[in-house]
Amino acid sequence: MKKTIFSGIQPSGTITIGNYIGALKQFVELQNEYRCYFCIVDQHAITVPQDRLLLRKNIRSLAALYIAVGIDPNKATLFVQSEVPAHAQAAWMLQCVAYIGELERMTQFKDKSAGKDAVTAGLLTYPPLMAGDILLYNTDLVPVGEDQKQHLELTRDLAERFNKKYNDIFTVPEVRIPEVGARIMSLQEPTKKMSKSDPNQKAFISVLDEPKQIEKKIKSAVTDSDGIVKFDKENKPGVSNLLTIYSIFSGIPISEIEQKYEGKGYGDFKGDLANVVIGALKPIQDKYHELLESTELDDILDQGAEKANFVAGKMVKKMENAMGLGRKRK
Ligand code: AQP
Repeated sequence: MKKTIFSGIQPSGTITIGNYIGALKQFVELQNEYRCYFCIVDQHAITVPQDRLLLRKNIRSLAALYIAVGIDPNKATLFVQSEVPAHAQAAWMLQCVAYIGELERMTQFKDKSAGKDAVTAGLLTYPPLMAGDILLYNTDLVPVGEDQKQHLELTRDLAERFNKKYNDIFTVPEVRIPEVGARIMSLQEPTKKMSKSDPNQKAFISVLDEPKQIEKKIKSAVTDSDGIVKFDKENKPGVSNLLTIYSIFSGIPISEIEQKYEGKGYGDFKGDLANVVIGALKPIQDKYHELLESTELDDILDQGAEKANFVAGKMVKKMENAMGLGRKRK
């Protein structure tokens, strides 16, 4: 029997090349080998303030992007989290298994709440919602970027705790992090990860950016003053990040790229990198615009929600039974 994969992306903005490299690109490669559930996690997105109209637009846009990058809805189940109520139900039960202390230790919570006067409870309880997303589908493997590793460890802890305390119903999932590109960095602060909700637009390349924008962003990417195109994460984080992006989008090993630009400085390197990224994103953008105009997208998401509701609904019942929720009918 095929093993199961679950992974989600927040519709909190247009996905960046970081989300693409760290997550979506892997999904496309895995969909032939595994039973896949790919989710647009809109309930995660509202843990920080969102504009309602923009959120709705981003949900559809992300669905179109999943398909535009190569997810085949005949192979994978693609759906919107809030259209499957089992996710919120599982999240509540798992919140009652999680401890506040372990949630407060999550790096993402610390980063996103730092310096804010008002932090929602949802930002703190994000990890049990994510654990529910994963555990509802008997997931074996979760392909994510490195930033989600800590949440995955917590998911495993919650599954094991639930299995031990109540009933052994959950598969304890493994994490899968790509060897290269697990953490694409900000173009402006290369020691910080690239994020789609970064207020500085120059810090990230969105997969829907126009060629001119891509060129401008790469040309203004922060590097260093020694003018040597060499991979050295510690001392040359900016150049190393650009080399990683170049290598992933072109398929050329980093050592060959280093040789190509020996003695040439950053101008040529950045110009060529812009062309590589523009060329790689063009087919994705074309397909995206085509899909967005069609009704095909809504049919795909309706069918995805139906399948997901069937599978997740059964697991929620098991969870409720294990915890003793609801009535036992006479
Ligand atoms: N910079 C990155 N490099 C590699 N992988 C990344 N991912 C995110 N950023 C990078 C991976 O993308 C998937 C979807 O992420 P998400 O939308 O669920 O949330 P996130 O990790 O918080 O991504 P962002 O872009 O930083 O979103 P915002 O700005 O809304 O918080 C995950 O698999 C993630 O690992």
